[in-house]
Amino acid sequence: MPFLSDTLARVSPSPTVAVSQKAMELKAAGQDVIGLGAGEPDFDTPDNIKAAAIAAIEAGKTKYTAVDGIPEVKQAICAKFKRENGLDYTPSQVAVSTGGKQVLYNALMATLNPGDEVIIPAPYWVSYPDMVRLGGGEPVIVETTIDNGFRLTPEALEAAITPNTKWFIFNSPSNPTGAGYGHNQLKALTDVLMRHPHVWVMTDDMYEHLAYDGFQFCTPAQVEPGLYDRTLTVNGVSKSYAMTGWRIGYAAGPEHLIAAMRKLQSQSTTNPCSISQWATVEALNGPQEFLAERNEAFRKRRDLVVAGLNACEGITCAVPEGAFYVYPSIAGCIGKTSAGGTLIDTDEAFATALLEEHGVAVVFGAAFGLSPYFRVSYATSDEVLADACRRIQAFCAGLS
Ligand SMILES: Cc1ncc(COP(=O)(O)O)c(C=O)c1O
Repeated sequence: MPFLSDTLARVSPSPTVAVSQKAMELKAAGQDVIGLGAGEPDFDTPDNIKAAAIAAIEAGKTKYTAVDGIPEVKQAICAKFKRENGLDYTPSQVAVSTGGKQVLYNALMATLNPGDEVIIPAPYWVSYPDMVRLGGGEPVIVETTIDNGFRLTPEALEAAITPNTKWFIFNSPSNPTGAGYGHNQLKALTDVLMRHPHVWVMTDDMYEHLAYDGFQFCTPAQVEPGLYDRTLTVNGVSKSYAMTGWRIGYAAGPEHLIAAMRKLQSQSTTNPCSISQWATVEALNGPQEFLAERNEAFRKRRDLVVAGLNACEGITCAVPEGAFYVYPSIAGCIGKTSAGGTLIDTDEAFATALLEEHGVAVVFGAAFGLSPYFRVSYATSDEVLADACRRIQAFCAGLS
């Protein structure tokens, strides 16, 4: 009898781990390494949110709570959906979990059966395909192109739908590209979905507030109210409110789906952290002005990085609408050899040689399902970013 489960065998080890492992080894050996791999804001959680958590501790709000969230946080979430997205949800349509990741995991585990297909545009956030496989489903990867701004076309979506399609996972602004869908671009996709009533929509709106140059965020159920009854709108405080460590994500959708997710959660983690839930009430109901200030800093960094990367020979970098990532193409570097003697035949070889020869850690595109690219997280200081760009330029100039 094998010790490990067959389920585990369906999941591949994270390809990003190898890069971070290597970066840590080099750092430990005393090398000067710049990490551009982090998927979290470098800003701190705002003080008013921290104070709400401290007050919750002092008031003894440190016990188990209702499985999928205290009434106060559910109210705050309903108000947020109404205020920011024009969506009407009642508390019984809302689930709160330990991070956006658990929300997505619960939804997939609660609904997938063997043979169910889940459409995932590539490049994708690394966890989607593995979560689908864990649930016994089949990820159906549909590639986008840099020429389309890494946005899925309605034709490609239509072609990927089969009678077995259960979910379409949508993520805008995107990790890893930062690409955001404007109203008309999203409407073109929801028009396709309206023709296929058996397909459910899981929209991952984690980067909603991180958008630049006046980009107007929109979400599927808002753009097409006809999808309301088969859409799970997922969001969280991790990225917008710089609360990655607090582990709060939430979703709203049809009551029967939320009840199924609650049932699953009741047998795994029970409730999300009580203190973090109170902090989230403050995050959602409290002042929002800091978001615009932080976005201005992110936009400047994005512009600095895009310009720095486009100045590298062999690299082409699009200007994304949001998040804190860029996803440059290295098509012009493939087939060349680095100054240190590495043949750059894949984006993984590029990332490894860049780290070993110039001390910059980035995540290679194959990890996100679209090559030859790499992902840069620009959630770090201007000085560090400028230094990283200089090093990448030197690396590219050394390719022959
Ligand atoms: C697109 C996307 N969805 C979901 C998550 C998960 O967020 P959380 O930290 O709230 O679990 C992340 C985090 O990296 C993400 O990038």
